[in-house]
Amino acid sequence: MWFSLWSMNSRPSSSLPWQTKPVTISELLQRSAELTASDSAVLDTELLLSHALNVSPTYLKTWPDRQPDSDCVTTFAALFQRRLRGEPIAYILGYQGFWSLDLKVSQHTLIPRPETELLVETALELQLPQQSSVLDLGTGTGAIALALASERSDWKVTALDFQAQAVALAEENRAAHQLHNVQILHSDWFAAIPAIKFDLILSNPPYIENNDPHLSEGDVRFEPASALVSGAEGLNDLIHVIGHSAAFLQPSGWLLVEHGCDQGSRVRALFAEAGFSAVETRCDYNQMDRITLGQLRPC
Ligand SMILES: C[S@@+](CC[C@H](N)C(=O)[O-])C[C@H]1O[C@@H](n2cnc3c(N)ncnc32)[C@H](O)[C@@H]1O
Repeated sequence: MWFSLWSMNSRPSSSLPWQTKPVTISELLQRSAELTASDSAVLDTELLLSHALNVSPTYLKTWPDRQPDSDCVTTFAALFQRRLRGEPIAYILGYQGFWSLDLKVSQHTLIPRPETELLVETALELQLPQQSSVLDLGTGTGAIALALASERSDWKVTALDFQAQAVALAEENRAAHQLHNVQILHSDWFAAIPAIKFDLILSNPPYIENNDPHLSEGDVRFEPASALVSGAEGLNDLIHVIGHSAAFLQPSGWLLVEHGCDQGSRVRALFAEAGFSAVETRCDYNQMDRITLGQLRPC
């Protein structure tokens, strides 16, 4: 879900005595007890320690009595303090897994969420031409575009974002995974799109209400508002994307969008108004309305 259970109640410890004397891996892992506000405290601690020691999580379990050198312990202490302050693990480690890819992340855009994989999964199930052209609006790290491009080397994928730093990040991720069938553009939604028609448009746009109280809690506090909020009802960007997509789709082209769990009926109505048929909302793994898709009605 959008909001993790990491709460504002988490307080960093003022001193970390275990930084100054030799400690074992097992003792360092026990620090997970301090991450009282995290719903994944043990895993968080394992990830941070294996990152600081540059070893696999399996190594930590295999050698619990080893004493890491003091530099590694100091590095771990610094990472652990950031997590104590509530910073998301992905920002601390600098990457996040999405689909089959490890993606670099930064504070300029959203950390890809597991539920967004439903957009990718659904897109891959559609009956589309073999050499489809695909557009990902608001690509962030490039998650959706790169996942699709990695599965369908014959698809030509265009991805865009209006944040220059997100465009640079998505390009870095594209290059790291050597996905040559993706081009990444700097654009305010459709403004800089070339005059071609796509077989499929996808978007996970900002869809949180401006005043949603969750914005000041948990991991989401560290993510940019430009990737999250979209007007009083959270619908401004969905209205824009759904309202303008038809002009950029082939006859019978598909549109897939992610949205909030309470936005399904509004989004389906927007699809119908914009000329889409076969409109359907699908649930994520938590059985919450999460994506809506529709096919453009041929004229
Ligand atoms: C919810 S995030 C999704 C990021 C990525 N697609 C994902 O699923 O992880 C929304 C993205 O839309 C971008 N965005 C917001 N407004 C935009 C606009 N007017 N034009 C283009 N991109 C926009 C944000 O910068 C952000 O990267």
